[in-house]
Amino acid sequence: MSQTLQVQFCGILLENPCLLSSASPTQSYEGIAKALKLGWAGVVTKTCAPDHLITADVANRFTVLRDNAGNITGFENIEGLTQKPVAYWETTIRDLKRDFPGKCIIASIMADEDRESWQDLARRMEKAGADALELNLSCPHFRLEDNMGAAIGKDETLAAAITACVKSAVRIPVVVKLTPNASNIQDIARAVVAAGADAIAAINTVQILMGVDIDTFAPLPAVNGHTSFGGYSGVAVKPIGLRCVAQIAQATDVPVSGIGGIAQWQDIVEYFAVGASCVQICTAVMLNGYQIITPLLAGLEEYMNRKGLRNLGEITGAALSKIEARERLSMDWRRRSTVVAPEKCVRCAKCYVSCQESGKGAIRFIEQRISVDASRCDGCSLCTHVCPQGVLALS
Ligand SMILES: Cc1cc2nc3c(=O)[nH]c(=O)nc-3n(C[C@H](O)[C@H](O)[C@H](O)COP(=O)(O)O)c2cc1C
Repeated sequence: MSQTLQVQFCGILLENPCLLSSASPTQSYEGIAKALKLGWAGVVTKTCAPDHLITADVANRFTVLRDNAGNITGFENIEGLTQKPVAYWETTIRDLKRDFPGKCIIASIMADEDRESWQDLARRMEKAGADALELNLSCPHFRLEDNMGAAIGKDETLAAAITACVKSAVRIPVVVKLTPNASNIQDIARAVVAAGADAIAAINTVQILMGVDIDTFAPLPAVNGHTSFGGYSGVAVKPIGLRCVAQIAQATDVPVSGIGGIAQWQDIVEYFAVGASCVQICTAVMLNGYQIITPLLAGLEEYMNRKGLRNLGEITGAALSKIEARERLSMDWRRRSTVVAPEKCVRCAKCYVSCQESGKGAIRFIEQRISVDASRCDGCSLCTHVCPQGVLALS
């Protein structure tokens, strides 16, 4: 069976589903060229804006959240847009298309409410040879007071107006990148599609405040003692990205580029299952380098072989019809917690405490042996999650 990693994304043939998202890893010709040589199917260039709107970057613009083992699970940035003028991006896109004609180069652009600025940027990127445009209507921290980024992307009317004005200026596909911070991402998605968007990318980062130094009360990341609300990314945001992509795919019929927390090939499969036609990756590359593309593609190939898939597009949306209103889920599907590996129990009693204080008091320790009182257990599953040893499972 001939099997390929190629996918189609709004009329563009990608050699595999993985694009670098618009961010630090796509801020220069040199970095992008290195990534493309390593096997990335394409890139979305670091967002460019009219030169007069660019602001400097602050020192200390990243901070992280770690799990108990020290792994970085969440990443916050308060980075701005590109530090380079529009002319740099015109040259870079032209050079990238000359040097890598088979790769997909999408130009990310942003302006303020001035429609002519959007159109001017769009035309310049199209003329330079970009395969598509991505409208950044979703940065949660750049010039919000000037009505840019997520300030536009949270407003249906404004988002639709910007999409329509860019669409009228160019012939290449227009992808709109949405924010998970919108109160209803489906309303925004429907509005930009009605305005002509050819595809949607989601998500940009999630607005957060990572923490506060409890001695100095400096909020983090501290820039001379102060901070801004920033953007959260990395594995911690994958569930938010999946939710947004699923909701967009349920509400519209344009292709979706799934973004957020992708670090391993399985994440890509999950994004496809909820409606993505390709994916974009940033934080995993910032933390581990462009070369993560090799295990991502190897894992996908092995998965496709195992599943007998000829094309990854075959699974786009495979999980969508299984996501429904909670009230339509089966209330008759009886499952109970069961002791499946009693020999692994270390009697830490985490399951007991959780079940006693947040569940139904169904866990028992009789002569130091764990058991579940089936008449009390209602299958909530809490004990199976808090057990560090895999002693309990629903059955
Ligand atoms: C340091 C940093 C800079 C970013 N800059 C941009 C940007 O210029 N334009 C944009 O659309 N998104 C930008 N993003 C958002 C990413 O493209 C991506 O949407 C987000 O980080 C979620 O994906 P991830 O979890 O794979 O990082 C940036 C993210 C980070 C961490």
